[in-house]
Amino acid sequence: MPVRDLTAQDFVTYKTMSSGAFGGSYDPSSAAAPQDFSPGETALGIDASGLPGGLDGVLAAGARIRHDQITLGGGLVGCGGIAGLVVHPAHRGDGLFRTLLTAVIARCDAESLPVSMLYPSHPAIYRRYGYQVVARGQSLIVPLVELQRIPAVPDRRLVPVTAATMPRLRELYHRLSAGDNAMLRREPPLFAEGLPGAGWSALLLQDEFGTNHGYLSWTRHGQDPRGVGLDVHELMGRTRSDRLALLRSLGSWSTVTELVRLRVRTEDPVLDVLPGAGTRPSPEPVPLVMMRVIDTAATLRARRAPEQLSGRIRLVVEDGTVPAGTCRAAGTFLVSADSGTIAAEPESARVPEVLGTVRLDIHAASLLLMGGRSLADARRLDLTAAADPAAETFLDALLAGPRPSVMDAF
Ligand SMILES: CC(C)(COP(=O)(O)OP(=O)(O)OC[C@H]1O[C@@H](n2cnc3c(N)ncnc32)[C@H](O)[C@@H]1OP(=O)(O)O)[C@@H](O)C(=O)NCCC(=O)NCCS
Repeated sequence: MPVRDLTAQDFVTYKTMSSGAFGGSYDPSSAAAPQDFSPGETALGIDASGLPGGLDGVLAAGARIRHDQITLGGGLVGCGGIAGLVVHPAHRGDGLFRTLLTAVIARCDAESLPVSMLYPSHPAIYRRYGYQVVARGQSLIVPLVELQRIPAVPDRRLVPVTAATMPRLRELYHRLSAGDNAMLRREPPLFAEGLPGAGWSALLLQDEFGTNHGYLSWTRHGQDPRGVGLDVHELMGRTRSDRLALLRSLGSWSTVTELVRLRVRTEDPVLDVLPGAGTRPSPEPVPLVMMRVIDTAATLRARRAPEQLSGRIRLVVEDGTVPAGTCRAAGTFLVSADSGTIAAEPESARVPEVLGTVRLDIHAASLLLMGGRSLADARRLDLTAAADPAAETFLDALLAGPRPSVMDAF
């Protein structure tokens, strides 16, 4: 069952199979229909022709690897985002999933993507291959009546986001998400440079000199049966008062809708300024985000260490979920921090002095290396995370930070 690269010639076949599986409508004869994979992704597939009952010209399975960058511990790391993984209904139940996903993991490694991310429809099948739930999408239903009472914030004004001001929003987003873990950078070619379109609107929050301090993006739609008429995609401000100014602006919609749905990050600072009473979780299913370490040393090197942290540990990562050599997650590494920089290398013959050893299974490594969790958290999930005390203190300090958040668009 060889896995091969899919090219423009395979696109219509792949897209027809994936929209058939996920329920999209793809009409290749329509002028607007895409005819090729994005240059920002790698597509892999398995031909049906070599399989029992397989026909020539039919794909038995396919998947796309997005080449994203995500924030990690104050730095950035390449992330293989797995999208549209599908096995043709005629070939399901024959083990193609394992073949394809193992090839996808190997390809992420070959393309220097040290971590991989996906939104699973069925987490258990990905967990078997080392993916670990690290985050979940979260939205709140917020009554607007409460936001109307927020007093005006001095020295702040709102400016519409247009094609001309969109680059300022992007730049601000990069600045305001830089300290988060796992937030996508949202850069071309996977994200268009211009306005997102389809009813998307946004405002920038500026001071009197035109410096940007925050933004709010939303889509207005008809009021749903629960009274929600506005989906707020993001509300990001530099300071508490900037977030209050943006919430106050949201309150101005109360004449046309009673409630808004507000998408938030895992530990979103907006939670600290929301008036609170009446705010409740949105009742939709919660999308889970799974991640997997592909290259342990590169994932660690991508982040910054706390300036004052210095020391060296031995880190052992065990990965029995894919054949040895599929990727560079497993191994014994020397990990050190000094003056804000992390060094991480496979252990060589000459062993320098270390604070101690940390031993993680691939699930614990995938959880912890995305930041914001401790070894004790991993153990509470029944993952393998054993360590000498000094090494555990060191690694916990190295990986401290906000829990990962993933928001896939502006
Ligand atoms: C999910 C899907 C990719 C599985 O592919 P497949 O080749 O049939 O799967 P395999 O036969 O290799 O089985 C892989 C594992 O998934 C499990 N599995 C397969 N279909 C499943 C289902 N519908 N529900 C629960 N488990 C399932 C199998 O039991 C197997 O587990 P094991 O590793 O413990 O033996 C395939 O059914 C499909 O394309 N579905 C529609 C699209 C989809 O859901 N894609 C995944 C999006 S995240």
